[in-house]
Amino acid sequence: MHVKLSVNINKIATLRNSRGGNNPDVVKAAIDCQHFGADGITVHPRPDERHIRYSDVREIKKIITTEFNIEGNPAEDKFVDLVMEVLPTQVTLVPDVPGQLTSSVGWDTISQSKYLRGIIEVFKNAGIRVSIFVDPLEDMVNGAADTGTDRIELYTEAYAKEYATGNKKAINAYVAAAAIAEKKGLGVNAGHDLDRYNLKYFAQHLPNLLEVSIGHALITDALYYGLENTVQLYKRELAGK
Ligand code: PXP
Repeated sequence: MHVKLSVNINKIATLRNSRGGNNPDVVKAAIDCQHFGADGITVHPRPDERHIRYSDVREIKKIITTEFNIEGNPAEDKFVDLVMEVLPTQVTLVPDVPGQLTSSVGWDTISQSKYLRGIIEVFKNAGIRVSIFVDPLEDMVNGAADTGTDRIELYTEAYAKEYATGNKKAINAYVAAAAIAEKKGLGVNAGHDLDRYNLKYFAQHLPNLLEVSIGHALITDALYYGLENTVQLYKRELAGK
């Protein structure tokens, strides 16, 4: 199965914001990633707009020809309003708190079940596919199925850390979680700390993996290899080549 590569371009915005001005241009980066073969563009606007700004999200919507994935915490009304205005292909709900460096935990789909069900319904009624960020835990995947979400995004930081130390068994929890998701009719995405070393092994072991979103490592590699080569390299890894 073709696993989609959604390129998270937040880091391009971080670089731009460090100097003011519009260099590098995040809209151009989105256009180029698509041209170079990305199957989607991901952005994660945070309330302080320290990387992707809300205005960037509106501008990217105008040029998107692939899948647009917006990540964020729906506890922020501003985030919900933006998603409802832009109507992306997918919204990925993440329980991060304002000012957090990066996402560091999945949803507690059991204690937050009622809340998630309510907000997921809002997005789904607007025709937006919903994915929720979860740890690869049986209870959390089962809980996700009760929220009405279309997909889960498996939080891959633990896998990435273990893989880097040579512990390939870390994949087992993800294989099990993906199998439960499939049984429950949920699509499976994955993201966080995936890179050109750990990506192929991950994709090869999750036959129902639909999409990965990758930012930090891909943009870092692009400094060395260029954006076009890097997008192609990640696509090859995903295809198992
Ligand atoms: N998925 C979620 C929910 C994220 O918050 C992030 C980071 O913004 C990613 C995927 C991508 O992680 P990375 O930048 O490590 O590739």
